Amino acid sequence: MASQIKGLVLAGGKGTRLRPLTYTTAKQLVPVANQPILHYPLDSLVQAGIKDIGVIISPETGDAVKSVVENWRPSGVKITFILQDKPAGLAHAVKIARGYLQDSDFAMYLGDNLIQSELSSLVETFAQEGADAHILLKHVNNPQAFGVAELSADHRIIRLVEKPKHPKSNLALVGVYLFTPKVFDAIDQIQPSPRGELEITDAIQKMIDNGNTVKSHTLTGWWLDTGKKDDLLEANRIVLDAYCQTELSGKVDNHSQIRGRVEIGKGTKVINSVIQGPVRIGPDCVIEDAYIGPYTSIGQGSRITQAEIENSVFLNACQVSHIPVRIEQSLVGQECQITKAQGRPATYRFMLGDQSNIEVL
Ligand code: TTP
Repeated sequence: MASQIKGLVLAGGKGTRLRPLTYTTAKQLVPVANQPILHYPLDSLVQAGIKDIGVIISPETGDAVKSVVENWRPSGVKITFILQDKPAGLAHAVKIARGYLQDSDFAMYLGDNLIQSELSSLVETFAQEGADAHILLKHVNNPQAFGVAELSADHRIIRLVEKPKHPKSNLALVGVYLFTPKVFDAIDQIQPSPRGELEITDAIQKMIDNGNTVKSHTLTGWWLDTGKKDDLLEANRIVLDAYCQTELSGKVDNHSQIRGRVEIGKGTKVINSVIQGPVRIGPDCVIEDAYIGPYTSIGQGSRITQAEIENSVFLNACQVSHIPVRIEQSLVGQECQITKAQGRPATYRFMLGDQSNIEVL
């Protein structure tokens, strides 16, 4: 069954909430546990037996997304890139994918989302139940920030509302959806929302209004939406917790201690340092006289000397040296340098990109 279903991964969009990183990188390519976020939805679709996948890309970041997807692509998986000329909404992305999807049922996955559950069982249930759409829900503490579902006593969906001021439930719409082609009729009947986007919540609501069967499943495992810094750090924490193993491919000297689950890439040197897992350090890094604490991912070619880092994500080729206080809860883009200023104590010197965010205690 699953093999007849296509996949649709949305990797366009603006990524404004992850600026300044998204001035130079596609949001979906920011790493979680040293892997581009986009790998997780793609892997999840392939594990569910879906081998024909469309990927929505934007004019700004499409080439970068294409090259990452091409490098990832396992043999036997067919990828079709679909250019969305402007980020006009999730339902707009589905609409422009119609030529690719044709009359197939499809699993749509937001390219910056991750779920713990196996997609395959959801795909099987969808195929067996014969619903027109199947959506996933998750209890959240801040439903005002999401599309929210109102359910009847017998768990039918009565209404979906995008970012309600006064939510009727705390059940948020997760970024993974299963659709039959009936969704296209619904999308043709909706108008852009006040923020100018064709909303997928409006399209699903229209399916309900049209009498289509829309079923739901409430997730118990984690759902990670990595659209903002703290969400991305949380995703890094959960993914490291779940998947980090012990694999020391680099060199660790006798003066260093490795505690817990730590992965160290090829060519990386650990000198006189303590690493407390779960931690992933990419290849070709140098970690010297340093402490790398739990839930940290460090990208390829980075150099950390005389510094303490915990609960953070550093992208490739970062340099951190001689920092007298611990760095925590930080998301640091490629080739950033954090060094101790010479001269007067208690002096900070910055060169920051637009919309950088520094918190100083
Ligand atoms: P969002 O996080 O809703 O939107 P965004 O990427 O524009 O980010 P921000 O709100 O911070 O500006 O998008 C969810 C996913 O869907 C993400 O992977 C981007 C993708 N997307 C598209 O492919 N096309 C679109 O028109 C939109 C809005 C999003």
